[in-house]
Amino acid sequence: MRKVLLAPSLLGADPLNISGAIASLENNFDWLHLDVMDGHFVKNLSFGPRFAEALREQYPETFIDAHLMTDDLDIVLPLFIDEKPSSITVHAETESHLLHESLRKIKNAGIQAGVALCPPTRVMSLDENILENVDLILVMSVTPGFGGQKFIEGSLRKVRELVSLRAVHKYKYRIEIDGGINENNIISAVNAGCDVIVTGSAVFRSGQPGRWLAKAKHDIEEEIRNFDRT
Ligand code: DX5
Ligand code: ZN
Repeated sequence: MRKVLLAPSLLGADPLNISGAIASLENNFDWLHLDVMDGHFVKNLSFGPRFAEALREQYPETFIDAHLMTDDLDIVLPLFIDEKPSSITVHAETESHLLHESLRKIKNAGIQAGVALCPPTRVMSLDENILENVDLILVMSVTPGFGGQKFIEGSLRKVRELVSLRAVHKYKYRIEIDGGINENNIISAVNAGCDVIVTGSAVFRSGQPGRWLAKAKHDIEEEIRNFDRT
């Protein structure tokens, strides 16, 4: 049966009690999503390499999914590669002439490599070499920079396009959606073909993050079973 992974975003967690916030997920998650912002590529600042290091130390077995919303990858990328997250995703829009090189650096370090697309960026802006070699394509469904924004409906079109492209060319990438996902639209994201679903505010503001994730997992599995039956 198809498996959809849940990746709560630590940007939505209480910044003064991140380990408590992770405990509140009650292990009902697959990946931890870590947003890195530089105040330049996006209009906000968030977690730095020291945070990524502490996270890896405290959770050695956890899949840490780092999403770099930054320019200056020649400076920023090595800082995060050193902290051994499980995946690092860079934006297609930042220093795009260096994209192949950045992905190669990530993969050479034994880390899964991803490319993120901002809402206005088209799938077709990605070269075939990228599509062939990348482990993950992250579709932004809000303008990157802040949690708690409204989901951009048209993003699911991009997800469907990536699903067909993968089927036709036998690409291997996973498709991740990030931004504005909540209990009302998570199933549409699953039906569009997302493999990984990031959720920040919906999970952490629910009051019962562990329960929220357990219910999402249950609803997703039921949807996939029903789909397989028809
Ligand atoms: C936005 C970040 C997201 C954010 C999602 O730039 O990339 O990962 O944490 O948060 P919600 O789910 O609240 O939109
Ligand atoms: Zn993100």
